[in-house]
Amino acid sequence: MDKRAVIFDTDPGQDDAVAILTALASPELDVLGIVTVAGNIPLSLTTRNALRLVELAGRTDVPVYRGSDRPLRRSLVTAEHVHGETGLDGPDLPEPQTLPAKGHGVDFLIETVRSRPAGSVTLLALGPLTNVALALAKAPDIAERLAGLVLMGGGYFEGGNITPTAEFNIYVDPDAAAIVFGSGVKLTVLPLDVTHKMRSTKERIEAFRSLGNNSGKAVAAMLSFSERFDVEKYDWEGAPLHDPCVTAFMLQPEIFQGREINVEIETESVLCRGMTVADYWGVTDRPKNAFWVRSGDSDRFYALLTERIGRLP
Ligand code: RIB
Ligand code: CA
Repeated sequence: MDKRAVIFDTDPGQDDAVAILTALASPELDVLGIVTVAGNIPLSLTTRNALRLVELAGRTDVPVYRGSDRPLRRSLVTAEHVHGETGLDGPDLPEPQTLPAKGHGVDFLIETVRSRPAGSVTLLALGPLTNVALALAKAPDIAERLAGLVLMGGGYFEGGNITPTAEFNIYVDPDAAAIVFGSGVKLTVLPLDVTHKMRSTKERIEAFRSLGNNSGKAVAAMLSFSERFDVEKYDWEGAPLHDPCVTAFMLQPEIFQGREINVEIETESVLCRGMTVADYWGVTDRPKNAFWVRSGDSDRFYALLTERIGRLP
């Protein structure tokens, strides 16, 4: 089987963790590296958590690089209210023994994409797009060289989650998102429209715990912790599970449905900062710059995640 080379850009975060663990367990993917960004919690903690995850998965062969510690222009907004003070509250994971790789994560992104055949590396973005925007600004040629960028972010039919109109990843760094969505990179977006359909019910969390391995128990503890905020907010039978939609799209895109549309990012409005203005119904003649995923099969999604997490230590 031809492995597909991927790089994660991430702010782990319990849902990022499930996305990364699933990828590390999947033989179809060659995870070249993990670049951390400030988002759910500050950079020092997203980096610490990424190191804890590669150790949990027994994959310390995957380098973790520190990226940007703040958005391009705005002050950092974090989400400890969802993810806890460590950003990975829930399981009791040990202090990482491995260190981050030397060098800046943005340079790793650029050098890796340039050094491999054009069209062979896919970037998977799970947090604010600061690193991705910096890489595209510093090396515009990588927009063409990348096989694509698959990101979790935005919302249209489901509105926002950090404000009524903005999803967290886009809201934290709307200027970076505007650069990314205007870069011409082949873009696939997994917005709240689809992630809100992927709800971690008690049965689904129990399926992870029943795997019996450390990773399954850790995932169950992560989701049990992070779901409490959303279950109260939405009054659903389970919290939406966001970032693993990115990994699942790479593994089984047939789980999902969407269409090519135009998406613009609101960067100036105070009220609507970070809104993804998605022209889903084609009412403008703006260029189609993103494959926007609107729905997916939640049973197949969780079956995939559970089976893959079951392959880990
Ligand atoms: O809005 C959900 C996104 O914000 C996810 O990536 C979650 O990890 C947080 O970063
Ligand atoms: Ca995230």
